[in-house]
Amino acid sequence: MTTETTTTRGAGSPGPVFPDGFVWGAATAAYQIEGAAAEDGRAPSIWDTFSKAPGNVADGHTGDVACDHYHRYADDVRLMADLGLAAYRFSVAWPRVMPTGAGTVNAAGLGFYDRLVDELLAHGITPYVTLYHWDLPQTLEDAGGWAARDTAARFADYAAVVHGRLGDRVRTWTTLNEPWVAAFLGYCSGVHAPGRRDPAAAFRAAHHLLLGHGLAARALRAAGAAEIALTLNLSPVIQTDGGESEARVVDGLLNRQFLDPALRGRYPEDLLEIVARHGGLGHVQDGDLDVIHQPIDLLGVNYYNPTFVSAAPGEPAAPPFPGSEGVRFDPPPGPVTAMGWPIDPAGLETLLVRLSRDYPEVGLLITENGAAFDDHATGDAVHDDDRVAFLDGHLRAAHAAIAAGADLRGYLVWSLLDNFEWAYGYHKRFGIVYIDYETQRRVPKDSALWYRDVIRRNGL
Ligand code: FCB
Repeated sequence: MTTETTTTRGAGSPGPVFPDGFVWGAATAAYQIEGAAAEDGRAPSIWDTFSKAPGNVADGHTGDVACDHYHRYADDVRLMADLGLAAYRFSVAWPRVMPTGAGTVNAAGLGFYDRLVDELLAHGITPYVTLYHWDLPQTLEDAGGWAARDTAARFADYAAVVHGRLGDRVRTWTTLNEPWVAAFLGYCSGVHAPGRRDPAAAFRAAHHLLLGHGLAARALRAAGAAEIALTLNLSPVIQTDGGESEARVVDGLLNRQFLDPALRGRYPEDLLEIVARHGGLGHVQDGDLDVIHQPIDLLGVNYYNPTFVSAAPGEPAAPPFPGSEGVRFDPPPGPVTAMGWPIDPAGLETLLVRLSRDYPEVGLLITENGAAFDDHATGDAVHDDDRVAFLDGHLRAAHAAIAAGADLRGYLVWSLLDNFEWAYGYHKRFGIVYIDYETQRRVPKDSALWYRDVIRRNGL
């Protein structure tokens, strides 16, 4: 990229400066960018299977090629360095490292992450590894997937293998990305892989994901990992009709189902009642919550939008929210992104302040925040003013949260590159760098150049 291009100034007046040492970076995930789906011994994950089955992903898009990052990683790291990123969060593809999910380790697959980490370090960029960003080896799904308890133990084994290879150079280890999405879009609404529609299986999956987190965190700690994190998709739930009980139900399902076991060692009572109605609690064994409740150093916060609800007696449960009978999920009251997601920076401040108040023992890192808009490349530029305004607003909210006492340590934008946006395929562009999928050309958008200046100034 050319770093001399004129920088678009963000919306609003020159703004706040962040604390010294605040970590600026960007995030991606393996299946969304790597491609090379059948190379060097990688076996299919549930996302390969799911995306190849007709009707699951827009226009039949798959991650077979994606951003071809597997082959272009060195160029991509140079791009990150040009933008001044201090941190890069990527995920490791389990089926590259252990093609059948257990047992045999594929040295060629691990070799890719080994080279990537070295390349990052050579450019002064700190690697943040996520071990699970939804690409479960298909063989494990065939044995029951996350609905089966054994998958949690297999995940801890895999975590130890990856740490064994990268642990000398990687400090920060995130076990899971967004277990709510993996469990409830994967096993309940069926819009994500593996596409199952079974509420009881989804609650089991949620528990086994948490158990896998705990087992992996324990294994990583024993192996000497410096910092351990769990990344959750968190959303303030706002009840629009003056009531409270419907918001509480959804908050339990979406937020506290994961926060409380991981950070307090117990499930919320209101959630347990719902789980008990959907297949019972037999899968929660004695001692599980102690395993899940491992000390962690960072809570990874993925924030996109608040959730708006109201009471609607007689309303059936929304597909990914079993137990939400009588709750209406209200349409966004204001502006939305190309995903139709509400644009609400204030929700980020509310969320961060709440987390630091309710779970003061853990540091916070925004591991994802960003937006899809309908970007178009005009020659060598992409003028994404809407994304600049989005990021500017959210960074101001993050700063306000710090001023209000939130222990926020850094910000990783989603995403570095346009990429495979799951069920939406390549139609939704979240990158600060535009991808021309025909040529694989990378074009830094105006938001990337703006972000570079934010990083330089350590502020807005
Ligand atoms: C999050 C996912 C990430 C990306 C963004 C838009 O839920 O973690 O992979 O798809 O949403």
